[in-house]
Amino acid sequence: MRVLVIGSGAREHALLLALRRDPEVSELAVAPGNAGTAVIADQYDVDITDGDAVAKLAHKIGADLVVIGPEVPLVLGVADAVRAAGIACFGPTRDAARIEGSKSFAKDVMTAAGVRTANSEIVDNPGHLDAALDRFGPAVGEPAWVVKDDGLAAGKGVVVTPDRDAARAHAASLLDAGHPVLLESFLDGPEVSLFSIVDGETVVPLLPAQDFKRVGDGDTGPNTGGMGAFAPLDWLPDEVITQIVDEIVKPVAAEMVRRGCPFTGLLYAGLAITSRGPAVVEFNCRFGDPETQSVLALLESPLGQLLYAAATGKLADQPPLQWRDGAAVTVVLAAENYPGRPRVGDVIVGSEADGVLHAGTARREDGAIVSSGGRVLSVVGTGADLAAARENAYALIKSIRLPGSHFRTDIALAAAEGRVSV
Ligand code: GLY
Repeated sequence: MRVLVIGSGAREHALLLALRRDPEVSELAVAPGNAGTAVIADQYDVDITDGDAVAKLAHKIGADLVVIGPEVPLVLGVADAVRAAGIACFGPTRDAARIEGSKSFAKDVMTAAGVRTANSEIVDNPGHLDAALDRFGPAVGEPAWVVKDDGLAAGKGVVVTPDRDAARAHAASLLDAGHPVLLESFLDGPEVSLFSIVDGETVVPLLPAQDFKRVGDGDTGPNTGGMGAFAPLDWLPDEVITQIVDEIVKPVAAEMVRRGCPFTGLLYAGLAITSRGPAVVEFNCRFGDPETQSVLALLESPLGQLLYAAATGKLADQPPLQWRDGAAVTVVLAAENYPGRPRVGDVIVGSEADGVLHAGTARREDGAIVSSGGRVLSVVGTGADLAAARENAYALIKSIRLPGSHFRTDIALAAAEGRVSV
């Protein structure tokens, strides 16, 4: 099987490495990729937001399966164009990708499916902002305001703050830019990312993971696209995972079918395990980054066959998934100043080791690998338990040199020390 992966992040690098382990995958291609993916796949340049261009490329290289990594092409309907060209595609249609692309659509689906989520309100008129802020936040017993962009914002459109002025300023700047604002109540409890391969009403959950969104140790500083992750979650009882699948993911998948926009691809449930049980923070329509790097490091089942089965309506026929014992920890190396405007163009030393997954990297004409984005790369450590996986991940990241770069030193630390519970 010839597989084309669309995207250029560490998530796509992890997908390619897992696909390469599948004996039925004979050839790998990626577009546009990065300096790390170029070593394991044929690399093509394409505008990934242009469905016709992606479909043309897939046709030209004889791809049997296209796997679309990022949300932007999915929300723009690139999967529809690939399928219309007669090529199997792992990734939802434009209609189904609204589960991520429109927070209000996602809320409608969750309400209809009876899924517990944060209370929410959309504000699109600046004149209504103050009254809406007063209906949320500490005034109603919540410890913070949650202010989101009602569209795609790559994880950076969210501000969670106990400071009403800060909440107001963020909401006002979104409204000024013409973006409707979503106000939500705050959900207490640890966060969980549960990814499921979905094909209509068939749901196959992967191992649960947790990611770390703030830039600094101790969950300080601004939100980022993700600074680290780990899997599995020993502190999360199996009954709660079953409850999430049966009471949240399956009803949402069924509701998408009922609405005439069945979901095919990776359905990412971002949840908080609150004192009243699991509740949805958000759904995404694709593999999450950096959780994917940890989850796929532990997958033993052949990924190509699994994604092809979902893309061709045969997911229900697949055998149960097999996982490696132990744990995987991912730590992201970010460029100086990230999540602000990152410094780029610096030479990276040590990035070609096993377990290093590239994101914002490029190969210069002289052969050197240089930084080209904010999240430059991630390292994955595996081990018999979280402590061993952390040790391996941190030994690896400390062996890499990039001027001005930074990483969090506490990824999975609380869980490894038994300080997370529900
Ligand atoms: N892990 C956050 C995201 O993928 O959006």
